Amino acid sequence: MRFARTVLFPAALLLLASQAATFALQAQAVPADAPYKNPQTPVDSRVSDLLSRMTLEEKASMLEGSGWMESMPIERLGIPAIKMADGPMGVRSWLGSSAITSSANPPIKVEATSFPAGITMAATWDAELVQREGRAIAQETKALGRDMILGPTVNINRVPLWGRNFEGYGEDPYLTGHLGVAYIRGVQGEGVIPSVKHFAANNEEFERHRIDAHISERALHEIYLPAFKAAVTDGGAWTVMSAYNKVNGAHLAENKPLLHDVLLKEFGFKGFVISDWGSTYSTAPTVNAGMDLEMPGGQRMRDWMARPETLKSGNGDGWLTTEKVLAEIKAGHITEATLNDNVGRILRVIFESGIFDHPHTAGGEVDTPDQRAIALQGATEGIVLLRNEDSILPIDTAKVHSIAVIGPNAAVARTGGGGSSLVRPKSAVSPLDGIKERAGSTIKINYTLGVGMEGENPADDTPEARAKSIKEAADAAAQSDIAVVVVGRYSKIEGEGFDLKTMDLPAGQDDLIAAVEKANPHTIVVLNTGDPVTIKPDIAKAPGLLDMFYGGEEGGHALAAILFGDANPSGKLPVTLPKHFEDSPAYGRYPGENLKVDYAEGIYVGYRYYDTKKVEPAFPFGFGLSYTKFEYSNFQVAEVAQIGGGDPARAYSATLMIKNTGTRAGAEVIQLYIHPLHSKIDRPVRELKGFGRVTLKPGEARFVHFNISRSALSYWSPEKKDWVADPGGYDVEVSSSSRDIRAQAPLVLRP
Ligand code: BGC
Repeated sequence: MRFARTVLFPAALLLLASQAATFALQAQAVPADAPYKNPQTPVDSRVSDLLSRMTLEEKASMLEGSGWMESMPIERLGIPAIKMADGPMGVRSWLGSSAITSSANPPIKVEATSFPAGITMAATWDAELVQREGRAIAQETKALGRDMILGPTVNINRVPLWGRNFEGYGEDPYLTGHLGVAYIRGVQGEGVIPSVKHFAANNEEFERHRIDAHISERALHEIYLPAFKAAVTDGGAWTVMSAYNKVNGAHLAENKPLLHDVLLKEFGFKGFVISDWGSTYSTAPTVNAGMDLEMPGGQRMRDWMARPETLKSGNGDGWLTTEKVLAEIKAGHITEATLNDNVGRILRVIFESGIFDHPHTAGGEVDTPDQRAIALQGATEGIVLLRNEDSILPIDTAKVHSIAVIGPNAAVARTGGGGSSLVRPKSAVSPLDGIKERAGSTIKINYTLGVGMEGENPADDTPEARAKSIKEAADAAAQSDIAVVVVGRYSKIEGEGFDLKTMDLPAGQDDLIAAVEKANPHTIVVLNTGDPVTIKPDIAKAPGLLDMFYGGEEGGHALAAILFGDANPSGKLPVTLPKHFEDSPAYGRYPGENLKVDYAEGIYVGYRYYDTKKVEPAFPFGFGLSYTKFEYSNFQVAEVAQIGGGDPARAYSATLMIKNTGTRAGAEVIQLYIHPLHSKIDRPVRELKGFGRVTLKPGEARFVHFNISRSALSYWSPEKKDWVADPGGYDVEVSSSSRDIRAQAPLVLRP
């Protein structure tokens, strides 16, 4: 038995839940001038005033959702339901699981701007742009009458096969944290509630409900937690979503060491924790760990949980229903003080976000020209130029009169990976459309499929069909001045709920590249996928190679702008591209055995591993070419007195002159790494601790400043259970990638 969604008071409740009602307070009438109703009352006082007026049943009811994407409203007190929608790359339909909302005929069709994937936005290294993206997404969320957007995803790319790597910001905690904070600021600035997900380490989809990730305390603190910490301490995030999986033996929704001890106590999180959809497995341990709101809830949750596939995949739900919570309170397993804490955190966000005082109503504009412009800028800045032999790019329109556009991702706009993040755009521009539009009538475009996308269309998906279409592609390439081959993956190969089976490109695509290159050496290969691909010899030798990741609805326009030189490439890899999966630090430690995965590589994730262990990647972290050149000079690091005094930590400032020495305007992403010279503990050879994006005209030079805090020199000491910066020498490096150090300067931390 359970309570109805809108609360029935008090007689109906007594009938519905007689046992629970035995210890319920009588609901008192609420005066119109109750302090919690007054927006001038400080938020903490509003929360305590409202809590004091709530019955125990009302409080317990707030821990369960009322629908697929709505929290529990309490009409008597004017508490609204928090109306959610999936993100993070735009607003998705909220009426059911992704299987329902992604179907051809969903119950309602929600169309919104499809922004580039997280990994694409990470490749921009442009925090200001990510903040504008967050603001635009929040505006669309409000325009559609919703209050909360389920993003950003700040999980670290540990293994190149994770199906959801495209949602996150890559392999580095510092970059991920900065971009996550920017997104949160953009969203919260509009009074919309973000949800930072998935706390704490959700790095594979394999058995995502049952897998138990064993991670050292140091790796948690240095790699997997910093982005969540930044979200809380710098971004002031209002909600955090707990992950499906287990970490060190406990499901995240009831993981007291991580939720209570780290998130609430160590980071000082003041917002509420929401479960991932179907990620709870207990009542009292979950509530006591600090998990505040279980989702989904209500009849939709019950229908979903009744489906055999839901249970088979390991979902858990329905543990924080009002009656279960009340029963645990009665049994003494949950105290009322704890319940007040949980509910208080939800109420605080309802007040702080403004949705109590100003509910969002649907009817606003979505996919405005401004919003599309942000999507276009992200897609353009996020394209990484990996190879440009003999300056094959930008396309010289004086010489190129025909272009063969080829590939399974050429004529279709593959805007993002699959699952709960895939936004349905009003319209999206494919690479072919973008190139055609830009080429105009003077350049002939010869399009052929090349090979069908594996698993998409049975007629194209046979060796014979592939051989035939590869032959057609080679012919088209032979008859054109240059060839552009757009390869990659799509939402059924790369998405939520499953991992990639291989880092190789899908069936036939490597053969296609080889055949096209043979037919026309002037070939440009474009990777259109979120995860790394195995760099086979033919990809490696293509004179032009670009990674556009998933560019959202404007991806085709962005690609054309880069190919034709209307925009100068400025994207830098937010993740190392290894030559093969076998080179990856997680190789042999994925997906785990007997539902346990040991993160034995510890802190050696991404470039921390490749650079320290001297494993040559195909393309290093932070790498990306430009059509212009930049010169780094006058690099200096100085100790600065801590303003305000009293803080024994010394801070440093670094200054660098950067000059555009080429002939085109362009942007350079300068990366600042710390390289410890002597350390009491094993440390990576370098770690990113600063970055800056500078746009310069030809010949223009500018000084760039970085602040280096003592924490930038620190590592997590499991013995001290704290961050430690060893006194001694460090090198500060400024680089154009983790392997292209342009200047370095010493720094000495005095004891
Ligand atoms: C995903 C979340 C998502 C939620 C709601 C889950 O399956 O892991 O990222 O926000 O569903 O759709």
